Amino acid sequence: EPEVIRDKAAMRAWTRRRRAEGKAVALVPTMGYLHNGHLSLVSAAAAASAGPVAVVVSIYVNPGQFAPTEDLTTYPSDLAGDLRKLAAVFCPPDLYVRAGDGRPDAGSSGGTVSCLEQAGGGYGHETWIRVEQLEKGLCGSSRPVFFRGVATVVAKLFNIVDPDIAVLGKKDYQQWRVICRMVRDLDFAIEIIGSEIVREADCLAMSSRNVHLSREEREKDNNLKALHRTRSARKNGNPCCKCRYDDFVHSMALSISRSLVNARTAALNGNNHSQQIQDQIVQTLTEAGDSSIKQRNFRNPFDVNADCELESLVPLERVDRPAVICVATWFGKVRLIENTEIQAP
Ligand code: PAJ
Repeated sequence: EPEVIRDKAAMRAWTRRRRAEGKAVALVPTMGYLHNGHLSLVSAAAAASAGPVAVVVSIYVNPGQFAPTEDLTTYPSDLAGDLRKLAAVFCPPDLYVRAGDGRPDAGSSGGTVSCLEQAGGGYGHETWIRVEQLEKGLCGSSRPVFFRGVATVVAKLFNIVDPDIAVLGKKDYQQWRVICRMVRDLDFAIEIIGSEIVREADCLAMSSRNVHLSREEREKDNNLKALHRTRSARKNGNPCCKCRYDDFVHSMALSISRSLVNARTAALNGNNHSQQIQDQIVQTLTEAGDSSIKQRNFRNPFDVNADCELESLVPLERVDRPAVICVATWFGKVRLIENTEIQAP
């Protein structure tokens, strides 16, 4: 039976008790629908200190980081399933203060708003944390309210849970760097651990949103159905095609990680011009999969940012110092992100 904590006061009391028992407290912030990637963060948290560690996982789908055009309402959830996987869970029904004064919430200075402000003035929230440079590039350029929302909710969680340690996944590389920077700049006394990417057997980086990869697309895309009929007929005449769309997704997903592995090798061998590395990645991605499918399903096919300086994420012309290569791809309505670090070029 997991310990389920639903309100802020109880959360604070939990941490106080664990500390009184001589344990370090570690927080793993999540939005739920847990997979092995999340669970690897829980293991990393438990192993983060030589002494005993009490790990709490927070589950909260944060309206402050979703734009109104994004997938807040369709974000997958399975609280009962999640609870079975955990020992201690902080799952507040709401994290923001309700004002009830009828005043609309202030949007961000850029004029863009999140679902929190969109909620219609019910909230009294107007304080936001902005990591001003780091939040701009990469994912920040297509998701202008995202990192503001992430930094703010993580700061709230840090204040409520008061952990000694927090673990974030390097799969969301920019997010991890944004939180590290916030902790440094605002003097949170919390050790941030960046945990390695966990992948499916076929190399697709695990993500809660992967659940959306097959369902909708498979059902409504006739092109895909045709392809999948041809392929399964060719294979064994089996009319069951459950796996065909997955085959496509997986071959594309494989091509993403393959392109990153190749880029990494090239950079380590001295072929370190960012533009060349980027072109090579785009070529590998373009060659993978069927082009008609690609046109139908990819909104903004590839968003490759070859070579950014490791901590600042400033773009580099060459990989002549530690760098990270980041790729984002659209599969239908799902945006997948991937990256690889090059520590010692
Ligand atoms: P969520 O997408 O649920 O991810 C929670 C944590 O799990 C993040 O730190 C993320 O990087 C990590 N994670 C997800 N997939 C992973 C994988 N395949 N391998 C390793 N780590 C993985 O990221 C968020 O939630 C939110 O933005 C949050 C930080 C909770 C703020 O709302």
